Amino acid sequence: MQLGSTFKRTALLALALALSVGLAQAHQTSGHNEQAAKAQTQVPPEMAAQGKEHFQHYCQTCHNPQDGSPRRGPDLAGLYQRKLTPAMKHPVTDANISGHIKQGGPRMPPFPWLDKREISALLAYLKTL
Ligand code: HEC
Repeated sequence: MQLGSTFKRTALLALALALSVGLAQAHQTSGHNEQAAKAQTQVPPEMAAQGKEHFQHYCQTCHNPQDGSPRRGPDLAGLYQRKLTPAMKHPVTDANISGHIKQGGPRMPPFPWLDKREISALLAYLKTL
């Protein structure tokens, strides 16, 4: 009798565990899909987070994708979902975007001293907008 109830308890515990693991997995999978649909291009999250920091540091004063307040630069939200860049009307490619960042534009200052990793991180962040 005692053995039987211990077994039942263990079985119940195992069932509850399996259920919660299953739920957690289902949750992760759906969250992942939403993100993929939004970002289109997969980027490593740590890199995008790094890029966000650089962006807040160097770019936010003129480009603010968060609050939509009028700033001097164009809104970069959804940049990688567009075909052409907002100001120069160049194809949206990593090469064109990093070129604009490094060389600047008619009204945007150049950032020639940003290194490869900082540029890659910035691009990763821009892809999440
Ligand atoms: C002093 C304001 C200012 C700062 C700082 C600035 N930008 Fe810009 N940005 C602009 C303006 C203005 C434009 C519109 C095009 C031009 O005049 O160069 C622009 C355009 C762009 C474009 C679109 C280019 C195109 O082809 O249409 C991208 C992408 C961009 N900026 C990214 C950045 C990033 C990334 C940073 C930070 C490293 C940054 N900007 C910092 C003002 C700024």
